[in-house]
Amino acid sequence: MKTNRLSPALEKALNDQITLEAYSSQVYLMLSCWADENYLDGVSKFMMKHSAEERLHMAKIIEYVQERGGVVEIEAIDKPAEKPANIYECFEAVYKQEVLNTEAIYKIVKLSFDDQDWATWNFLHWLVAEQREEEKLALELLEKAKLAGGAKMTDTAKFELNKLIANTSQSFPTADEVDPLA
Ligand SMILES: [Fe+2]
Ligand SMILES: [Fe+2]
Repeated sequence: MKTNRLSPALEKALNDQITLEAYSSQVYLMLSCWADENYLDGVSKFMMKHSAEERLHMAKIIEYVQERGGVVEIEAIDKPAEKPANIYECFEAVYKQEVLNTEAIYKIVKLSFDDQDWATWNFLHWLVAEQREEEKLALELLEKAKLAGGAKMTDTAKFELNKLIANTSQSFPTADEVDPLA
């Protein structure tokens, strides 16, 4: 009797997503370290928290694959791209990473729909809602960085933005707090 309730294509796509979430986590770690090197403690903490958030997404998908009788393959994680040149590039990297992640998730949603795998389709709803929140936050931060002077931001503006982000990170919703029906 077949006990794996995932189609091979969906199992592969979910495994790829596990690796992508791990990669996202590495990107945020890299940005956190870059911010620390540049005396941006608020940004650094924010990125560290976000890195942990991506690990949480990864863990949830692992659990789901296992629950459905699928097999999880832990793959190598690519090295993140070069460190940003300035704070604006840092937030640009965040936004790009989130959009990339959303697009990958949309493909899996589509696949689950085509497979008529309603359990996976339903499971992915929280991740879609989560991505919507994360894109919103990433865009807000990018816009604030633009407003504060973009790539040519002064040290004073950097100081203020860093302070603002230190507070933003405190209200950042975790995956469990996101209501998929909201
Ligand atoms: Fe994620
Ligand atoms: Fe994310």
